[in-house]
Amino acid sequence: MSAPIHRLTPDDLLSAATGLLATERDPLANMANLSALIFEALPDLNWAGFYLYRPQTTAPATLFTLAQVASSSPQAAQGELVLGPFQGRVACTRIALGKGVCGTAAETRTTQRVPDVHEFPGHIACDVASASELVIPLVAHGQLLGVLDLDSPLKNRFSVQEQQLLEELVSAFLATLPAV
Ligand code: SME
Repeated sequence: MSAPIHRLTPDDLLSAATGLLATERDPLANMANLSALIFEALPDLNWAGFYLYRPQTTAPATLFTLAQVASSSPQAAQGELVLGPFQGRVACTRIALGKGVCGTAAETRTTQRVPDVHEFPGHIACDVASASELVIPLVAHGQLLGVLDLDSPLKNRFSVQEQQLLEELVSAFLATLPAV
């Protein structure tokens, strides 16, 4: 993909993401660029990126592809979310399933659109500036792979339409992953 010659807008997001995904198959590279696309195209974000579902292990982390992670982490073994590619300020590195907005989206496998994070029980404030949040679970072939997390310093930042747009983007990304 060549570098964009103008600043992306929300209307550009899905077509830019689709173009990106058509030319690269490596999920890590795609997550890095998708974070950058989202952060550039959508106004009023202070964070956009991925947390990846990892099995609980004492072994040092290595670089896996998403497909390898999925095939080596049966859902029976309780894992946790670990920070992946993102744009924004330094963030919490590990989130337990069921904890915070991200852990809730991961555990329930449902999108969490939170208009005011201060009203969300257990919200994890990686950045005190965050006021609203949108978290979309990544589930492929029945396996939890992680979440896409967007934060905004504005309350009520995320509309239903924007949720649907980002869910489409996540679906396009998941469709590039091999069956495991
Ligand atoms: N607020 C999230 C934590 C991740 S950061 O926002 C990047 C949560 O409650 O899960």
